[in-house]
Amino acid sequence: MFTKRHIISTRDFTKEEIDLILTRAEELEIFARGLEPGAKAGKKSDLLEGTLLANLFYEPSTRTRLSFEVAMKRLGGEVINVSSPEASSAAKGENLMDTITVVSEYCDIIALRHPKEGASRMAASFSTVPIINAGDGAGQHPTQTLLDLYTIKKEHLLDSLSIALVGDLKYGRTVHSLAYALSFYRAKLFFVSPEVLKMPEEIKMDLRAAGAEISETTDITEIIEDVNVLYVTRIQKERFPDPTEYNKVVGTYRITTDLLKKNEEVIIMHPLPRMDEIDPDVDRTKNARYFRQAFYGIPVRMAVLSLLLGR
Ligand code: NCD
Repeated sequence: MFTKRHIISTRDFTKEEIDLILTRAEELEIFARGLEPGAKAGKKSDLLEGTLLANLFYEPSTRTRLSFEVAMKRLGGEVINVSSPEASSAAKGENLMDTITVVSEYCDIIALRHPKEGASRMAASFSTVPIINAGDGAGQHPTQTLLDLYTIKKEHLLDSLSIALVGDLKYGRTVHSLAYALSFYRAKLFFVSPEVLKMPEEIKMDLRAAGAEISETTDITEIIEDVNVLYVTRIQKERFPDPTEYNKVVGTYRITTDLLKKNEEVIIMHPLPRMDEIDPDVDRTKNARYFRQAFYGIPVRMAVLSLLLGR
């Protein structure tokens, strides 16, 4: 079902495929952790022995790039990296098509992050190995969505989900990918953003056509009591054509322990990095899940890599 496929957008999945990836991630999670206290060696697997991942990252990344690398290495695979455009021939003016044509002959699978929307889809048409979209501009970030769903599944909320996507819904690729995938699970969707950063119309149309129930507001206090998950995002400063527009909306939302008094059970997620959307005091509450969510990037990427590599 997955061997040799590309992963470009959550729209390319069926619900059954997503469920299969999440189940595989559960099976592989024992290999995701490092040394247990007192143990001489962490649990390792040789599932991906003899395979090589190329991480091509033309935009900044910490978690996504490292968790792809950790996922490969803990399953016995190997990794080569381009971690910035300045460090590659892109700085000399090489086009993506030539880079992919060559790199796909060097490795078994490619994770690509690129500032241009559609770059991964284009790369896939030149690649002889699977391309995983690790973020294409304001487009999509499908493996982030898979780890978001995995986190929600661990809370036993996947089939009774009422979720607010909060922050930059215009430029945020994580919320675009996630919203599409959530329409499979009959989630109630609340979109909370400043007026100028609303979820794009065409995405809302697609979601409604898929039967999703959507409400929109600018005010988080209006909906906090109606949701079991708040998915908070950073305002995507780098995507604003005009920095003064960014300055008008930065700091619009801030999750504080005071706000949590209105809904003591709500789970707080965030793809990270956070700027000031979540007060650090929230980190110690029973509501915070964002650091565990980031950890789940490892088992979920293990699942994706092993399925695409046919292991
Ligand atoms: C996100 C991204 O790159 O889209 N980060 C991530 O991969 N966890 C979110 C963001 O940058 O705001």
